[in-house]
Amino acid sequence: MKNVVIYTSQTGFTKRYAEWIGEAAEAEAVDLAQAKKLNLRDCDTIILGCHVCADNIVKAKKFAKILRKYAGKKCALFMTGASPAASDRLKESFAKAFSQYPDLRFYYFPAGFNYEKLNGISRFLINLFRKALAAQKDKTEADLAMEKMISSSYDISDKKYAEKMVDDFFR
Ligand SMILES: Cc1cc2nc3c(=O)[nH]c(=O)nc-3n(C[C@H](O)[C@H](O)[C@H](O)COP(=O)(O)O)c2cc1C
Repeated sequence: MKNVVIYTSQTGFTKRYAEWIGEAAEAEAVDLAQAKKLNLRDCDTIILGCHVCADNIVKAKKFAKILRKYAGKKCALFMTGASPAASDRLKESFAKAFSQYPDLRFYYFPAGFNYEKLNGISRFLINLFRKALAAQKDKTEADLAMEKMISSSYDISDKKYAEKMVDDFFR
């Protein structure tokens, strides 16, 4: 195995992007839960993928562990989210969580939102977030955009973003 994509996905968007990257980069896409069984020593590149949760990186600690274990390999982290672009707060979270890995490349993919596929905890969190946003006075433009984004399910994922990332990463 030369290139591997390790992802975690609840509602399917990150898995879909992992598979698109896998196709474009001739890489195997593996769920994080199965990744422990893999020996990545022979890999040249490791691409990690997860979704954004409240401007934070889901499974950041587990991914940092992989990066530590396989230090020296070419690595990237991609994130999927409901918004069309990465927020400044997300970029800050990335910089903070992976400050020890200055060579780690970061990519953001617009994905969407799928309320129907969320588990109980995520539904609970989203409903809390919806209520908090609804009650908030003096909403910023970002608050209004987020409120609209999580009001119903939608899909803005596109294979072209994965292909562009692969072009950039393997250039
Ligand atoms: C609790 C919760 C918080 C979220 N927070 C954000 C966020 O801060 N920014 C964003 O763009 N999307 C946010 N999302 C949307 C997810 O990141 C998005 O739907 C993602 O693509 C889901 O990936 P998956 O299908 O692989 O699970 C949030 C979703 C949930 C359930």
